Amino acid sequence: MDPVVNPYTPNAGKKPPALVGRDAEIAGFEILLKRLAAGRSAKSLIVTGLRGVGKTVLLGKFEEIAAAVSWRTGTHEVTPETDIRPLMARLARSALYEISPPARWGAKAKRAAGVLKSFTLTFTPEGGVSVSLSGADQVPGKADSGDLDADLTDLLVELAEAAADHGTGVVFLFDEVQFFDRPSLTALIVALHRVVQKDLPLTFVGAGLPQLPALAGAARSYAERLFDYPTIGSLSRDAAATALVEPATELGVDFEPDAVDRALDFTEGYPYFIQEVGSVVWDLAESSPIRSSELEAAIPLVEKRLDESFFKVRADRTTELELRYLRAMAELGPGPQRSGDIAVTLGYKGSEQIGATRANLIHKGLIFTPGQGLNEFTVPQFDRYLRRTFKLERKPPMPRKKRDS
Ligand SMILES: Nc1ncnc2c1ncn2[C@@H]1O[C@H](COP(=O)(O)OP(=O)(O)OP(=O)(O)O)[C@@H](O)[C@H]1O
Ligand SMILES: [Mg+2]
Repeated sequence: MDPVVNPYTPNAGKKPPALVGRDAEIAGFEILLKRLAAGRSAKSLIVTGLRGVGKTVLLGKFEEIAAAVSWRTGTHEVTPETDIRPLMARLARSALYEISPPARWGAKAKRAAGVLKSFTLTFTPEGGVSVSLSGADQVPGKADSGDLDADLTDLLVELAEAAADHGTGVVFLFDEVQFFDRPSLTALIVALHRVVQKDLPLTFVGAGLPQLPALAGAARSYAERLFDYPTIGSLSRDAAATALVEPATELGVDFEPDAVDRALDFTEGYPYFIQEVGSVVWDLAESSPIRSSELEAAIPLVEKRLDESFFKVRADRTTELELRYLRAMAELGPGPQRSGDIAVTLGYKGSEQIGATRANLIHKGLIFTPGQGLNEFTVPQFDRYLRRTFKLERKPPMPRKKRDS
């Protein structure tokens, strides 16, 4: 088929031609916005899921929905280097300018601008270089304490008041939230808590890996009640079939039913894998309908593409010991594995000796803890990749003690 019109989107965060299987999450977000607009309280959202299940795409959809009802949005992809103060200052500033042009700011928006100025002054002593707000007067005692929790709370509350005053709301959409450091995540939670108590139209949607609820809970125990935590995962068989078939149908191309079955078996309904399979088989197929023999021929190519990109970039980020740990974990199969079993597979007596390696892998986002002492890959089908690519290596034998002669 003509590669020029290939409809599939095997790219990170790229809106798929058919966004299927996420109706419940989308409806939940619409209700959240409507409640806040009506002055009712609603929980913020933290969407979690494995790599490649469509978290970024869903955040993008939420952003569209918010924009369609004229809410102001602030988006960011968090990295371990993200500095929350300048970030929030920048996002609050654009939100404030979007709420209304400064010439038409009401008293609340002017006040918010003043608070934002104080907030920026605490990190740019030379006068808020990064966030110029000419004309705004600082509000003494607001957002100027130097304490991140308190200052961010002041900023978000005033911004939300300004939005409400202008008949709109603000939603922050942050991706990869597990990369926030503890103080940043805590400040965000504390500030949102205050906004929620005041029933103001400002909310937060975070997306990230499955360890996120635990991180938020460890930062502040009430985070459990502040957020809803929808988990997204692989698509149901029907939704996965639609995701594969519909983009082709729209271009007048069909799939043989056996070909669809084969694709679904291989992808296990994971959105990213569906896009890769669709993309490869589209380029490879001669004509409509796409046959199961063509799908069969596509699968090794898809596997090669996944190995060289999706899987390899993750494996490349590990040290030798970390990779050995992952490989031992893969030996035990998919699904949660006990730390103790992994240690034994590696040739250790107990998990304590490799606790630091495990902690690093969690920190790098390659594994997460679905329950105490358990470990699971954040990347679907990573176990298969590791088994077919790397040899299981046990701990190097300890040097023998010399015998006294
Ligand atoms: N509901 C869906 N139906 C079909 N395809 C989808 C769906 N959601 C996402 N995709 C496709 O899946 C792939 C992965 O999506 P996305 O980048 O949003 O995942 P992610 O969960 O953010 O992954 P990561 O954790 O690696 O950032 C993209 O190619 C996207 O086009
Ligand atoms: Mg993503």
